[in-house]
Amino acid sequence: MTIKQCTLEDSRNLQEISFETFNETFKDQNSPENMKAYLERAFNLKQLEKELSNISSQFFFVYFNNEVAGYLKVNTNDAQTEEMDEESLEIERIYIKNKFQKHGLGKYLLNKAMEIAMESNKKKIWLGVWEKNENAIAFYMKMGFVQTGAHSFYMGDEEQTDFIMTKTL
Ligand SMILES: CC(C)(COP(=O)(O)OP(=O)(O)OC[C@H]1O[C@@H](n2cnc3c(N)ncnc32)[C@H](O)[C@@H]1OP(=O)(O)O)[C@@H](O)C(=O)NCCC(=O)NCCS
Repeated sequence: MTIKQCTLEDSRNLQEISFETFNETFKDQNSPENMKAYLERAFNLKQLEKELSNISSQFFFVYFNNEVAGYLKVNTNDAQTEEMDEESLEIERIYIKNKFQKHGLGKYLLNKAMEIAMESNKKKIWLGVWEKNENAIAFYMKMGFVQTGAHSFYMGDEEQTDFIMTKTL
């Protein structure tokens, strides 16, 4: 497996894997209308290009056998989606395609996030995860995260609860 930091030129590939993994993860538990609304808002090319250009965000692709198998988005400073101090790093997105899950790729991306956090002297890593996403919650707990709060998240017009989970470095 290899990892590569994304640039603006990766916007279309990023859009493709964002759609694919979001659909795989959430389509069974959400209405098609809410999924469509979210996908169009979060992953339109203009939005992704804006995020790729933000110096406080970084995206990475992880490759397995030369195929993009998953991706990671981390935020620092004011790119974080909640008000957090400058000693925090957010994992906003960590997604592995279904067929590549449970082969250590998620851990590999999480370790990348930890490496970035430690290099920039951050004291903690945090993330928001849907309370019904039991698979991801179990993974984060295995990786040493604990629940430290909750916030609202809108999937289309449906208000959902995200747990905030944190790992102290
Ligand atoms: C959550 C996700 C990133 C985990 O990645 P993964 O590649 O499947 O996980 P890994 O193979 O790297 O697992 C790392 C460790 O966590 C454990 N683990 C992974 N999923 C687990 C689960 N559901 N329950 C318990 N342990 C789990 C593994 O056994 C492994 O343990 P080990 O280090 O002792 O071998 C991946 O399943 C995914 O992309 N899911 C869909 C998208 C998603 O929900 N993203 C998060 C949105 S907030």
